[in-house]
This record gives sequence, structure tokens and C-alpha cells, in this order.
Amino acid sequence: MLPERDSREFRTLLHEEVEKRRTFAIISHPDAGKTTLTEKLLLYGGAIRSAGSVKARKTDKHATSDWMEIEKQRGISVTSSAMQFVYDGYRINILDTPGHQDFSEDTYRVLVAADAAVMLLDAAKGVEAQTIKLFKVCRMRNIPIFTFVNKMDRAAKDPFSLMEELEQVLGIRSCPINWPIGVDGDFQGVYHRDTRMVELYTGGDHGKKMVEKTDISIDDTELEKVLEKHYRDRLAEEVELLDEAGDSFDLEKVRAGELTPMFFGSAVTNFGVEPFLDRFLSFTPPPLPRESDTGIIGPEEPYFSGFIFKIQANMNPAHRDRLAFMRIVSGAFEKGMEVWHSGTNKIVALKQPQQFMADEREAVEEAWAGDIIGLFDPGIYRLGDTLSTGPKMHYANIPVFAPEFFNRVRPMDSMKRKQFQKGISQLAEEGAIQTFIRTETGLEEFMVGVVGVLQFEVLEHRLRTEYQTEIVMEGMPFRHVRWVIKTPKPVEDLKLTSTSGRAKDSHGRDVLLFENEWSIRLAVENNEGLELKETAER
Ligand code: G4P
Repeated sequence: MLPERDSREFRTLLHEEVEKRRTFAIISHPDAGKTTLTEKLLLYGGAIRSAGSVKARKTDKHATSDWMEIEKQRGISVTSSAMQFVYDGYRINILDTPGHQDFSEDTYRVLVAADAAVMLLDAAKGVEAQTIKLFKVCRMRNIPIFTFVNKMDRAAKDPFSLMEELEQVLGIRSCPINWPIGVDGDFQGVYHRDTRMVELYTGGDHGKKMVEKTDISIDDTELEKVLEKHYRDRLAEEVELLDEAGDSFDLEKVRAGELTPMFFGSAVTNFGVEPFLDRFLSFTPPPLPRESDTGIIGPEEPYFSGFIFKIQANMNPAHRDRLAFMRIVSGAFEKGMEVWHSGTNKIVALKQPQQFMADEREAVEEAWAGDIIGLFDPGIYRLGDTLSTGPKMHYANIPVFAPEFFNRVRPMDSMKRKQFQKGISQLAEEGAIQTFIRTETGLEEFMVGVVGVLQFEVLEHRLRTEYQTEIVMEGMPFRHVRWVIKTPKPVEDLKLTSTSGRAKDSHGRDVLLFENEWSIRLAVENNEGLELKETAER
């Protein structure tokens, strides 16, 4: 039992619990090493006992691209949506950002629940396509972004050129916290700029084994015995250059998302992971306040409040139950609690709340601001819903993100239109798909847009199994949608390239469809006063 909410005891406890919490997501392009890094973090936190357990499950999932199989594995993706572990007195929540075939709007949406992001780069590849997309979402929210350059044990890009890439491609300046010694397949270790310690790397066998490491101060005369002269010279030169020409560390800029602390290491060999985790935890903020229609709500407000950011469809098609994931914004959650729900404007009991460990879920007795809990959803929750024991309020909407794949969709049997529409609107509510009506052709074509192509398979499968409706889908060449914020003339009179399209979203708002970035630029150039946006309010 928690102390009375208005007691001093409760406030002290709340403060302590909030200060301990760190809630973040790892953003990366597939294969950069997110699973490996997550596993290492869980290992340090004692949440898993041996390396390979997360990995093994992921490999299973990868072996198949068949949706049916993925459906069977649903339990797995549910449990990994958010994981909690304890490390060095911190209570850490890692949010999963599904990549590979699982890439979907959910991948963007979970970032709304995070207070920081770790941007993981493959040292040989630098900033890749999916990293750019996820980075943009973090940027929208101005959350701190920490860069971990992984796979330093292998051929890698020059670290200065990686810094330049961050600035050129993402528009963010970086401040290396450590610096690699010997690159491009000749990795010797890293130098920690804050402690002046050199951490040397031995063994490793191309990432197959744990490495041994030696710690020695850069000022120690013994260094010359363990690190050859040309490495020492180059390190001294590069560090001098960094100190003179690089950005200095500025915690305020880091927390505002304007400067990214940069780390080099190798997740598979554990090299540089622990020092990264230690610094990351001390630089990254405790749970951030959120905007609501009644003002900014901080984590230490004594009442419980939070919002739904992800809805996971049922694992068992026989029961239409779902799991709604909530980010707690303020106060404490206690089992059996009754709260006001914005969607129904009613008091609801939070049923079967769950929290997730690496490979199991457990019932939640209590949870605090910053935590993520999964709620059993009898079908009442919608994305962005607010739950509160305090004022009746609404947290700022979770945006709708631009889909990148579009299909014309219709039921195979026109008698099934009703079920078809019901199923489609259910999936749209969960946020798995978005619907559009193409207006210009005069045909009122019905279109579905998704962020990751696998969602089309999900759509087909779920309409068949849950709504007994077979569908016909036809691909469309569009790759971008933009919401029209301001237009100098009626949308039908806009000057667009012949391959562009016009449509309305499910709220009747005008959107433009494009095949490439170039047509988007032309649309803006050729129609003075036209304003387009990549996201929309839900
Ligand atoms: P992801 O979740 O971001 O998609 O990446 P994942 O961790 O699955 O890693 C992708 C591949 O990169 C894996 O190799 C993994 O072992 C390797 N990897 C991760 N971190 C490092 C690193 O620091 N150095 C090196 N050299 N490799 C790294 P794989 O061949 O796909 O799988 P496996 O058979 O090695 O497990």
C-alpha cells in the first residue's frame, strides 16, 4: 500500500522514484546492432542471465516473413514492447522500436513515450535511411539524443567524417565523450575525454568472444609499453583538434536535443558499453513533463496520469482483447486503481496491468511516472487517450505519421462491405493503417496507407480471420503523403506534376500524394503560399 497521496511521505517517495527513472528508446537502422546492445544492457542490469536469449528469439522471428508465423510469435513482440530493469540504482525503461519487417507507425509512436533516444550507428555505414526517419521524430520533440557508434572492432569510417555526417545529414552537432584509437579494422581501444583514461582492447576474435581490457591514464608513463607510438601520436593530435575545434560538452544543449554526446564502442564484444551506460544515465534526464490542455504536467504531480501510445491487437483471434500501452506522466499507479478515462469520460478500473521484463510479463503492483504499463483493453482505449485521478485533461495528441506505401483496397465480395468497413475502421483506430479517399479521379477510390509494407499483410490476415472478409489490393506508386496546412487556391487547382495525387484523409482533410521528394519540392515551388506537413493531428 502506498502512503496517502496528500502526505509528505508520499511526496518524498514520489520524488525518489521519479529521480531514479530513465525511459528511452534505441533508434537505428536494421542490423546496426540494436538487439545486441539491448541485450548487453539487460545483461548488466541482471534482467537476463545470458547473452543470446533476446537474440535467439529475434532470429526465430526473422526466419519467417510469413505473417501467420509472426502472429504466432505475437507473445514475443508484446513482451518486448517495453522492458524494465535496474542498474546502479536507476530504474530503466527501454522502449522497443520495431525495425526490419515490423517497421510501422508504432515504431514512430513509441518515441512519443520516450524521454531520450540512443541513436545507434554502424561505424562502417554511418547515418542510414531508417535512422534519419526516427531521428526526425525525436527532433520534433526536442528530446536528448545520444549517439553510440557501434562495430568499432571492424572496418569503420573515420570518426571525424562521422561527426561531419551527423551535422550534414541530420543537422545536429556532436560532442565525442570518448574517442577511438586505431580505426578501420585496427581498433585498439578508446580514450575517455572526461577521465583521461585509455581503455585498451585485446582479444575479441572478431566479436565472437568477450574482450579483455586494460585501463590506463593517458598521463601514465607506462602507456608507452602498452600502446605503440604511432597510436599515441595520432590520439594526441586528434584530441587536441577536438579540444580546440570541437563543440564543448554542454548539458543544457544535450537535454534540449541540440548537441549529441557521441560514444564509440562495440556492443558484441561489450567494449565501451558499460562506460557508455554510466555516462548516458547521468546525462539523460529523469521523466520529462508533458503538455496537456490544462498546461504542462510534471512527473511529481501527486495524482496519477498518463496516456495511451500503443495498442497491440489481440494474440488470440477468438477473443477480441487487446493490450493498451500507457506511459505514466505523473504520480503513482497502484493495482486496483480507478481512474478517469478521457475517451469515455467515465471512471474505469485498470484491469490486469502488466509490466515487462526481458522474457516475461508480470502483474504490476505499483508503477511511477516514467514507467510504461500494459493494460488489458476491452476495446475502450484509443491512441492518445488520457487516464487521470487528478484533473480531467488531455495530453497533447499523438501525431499521425506519413505513410509510405499505398494500396487501393476493396472487399472481394461486395456483399461483405459492412464487415470490411468495420474491420478497416478498427485497424485504423489501432493505428495500424490509415485510410484515404482519392478525390481527383472522380472515382472516390478507397486507399490504405501504411508506414511499413508488412502492415498490408497484417490487414489482409486480420480482415480474413477476424472479419471473415477477403480483400483485393492493388499497389499504387505513391511514396509520400503531405497534409495541406495552407493553400493559395482550391486543392484541385494546384499545379502539381502529373504523377502526383489528391486525396482526403479519414477526417476529410486534404492531402497530396507524391511519388518522390522532387515532386514535393516542385509542388511547393509552383504554388506560392502552399504549406505542407509530414504529420497530422490525430
Ligand atoms: P539489429 O537489432 O540492429 O538489427 O542488429 P543485431 O543486434 O541483430 O546485429 C546485427 C549483426 O551485427 C549481428 O550479426 C550482430 O552480431 C552484429 N553486431 C552487433 N554489434 C556488433 C559489433 O559491435 N561488432 C561486430 N563486429 N558485429 C556486431 P549477424 O551475423 O547478423 O548475427 P550473429 O550470427 O553474429 O548473431
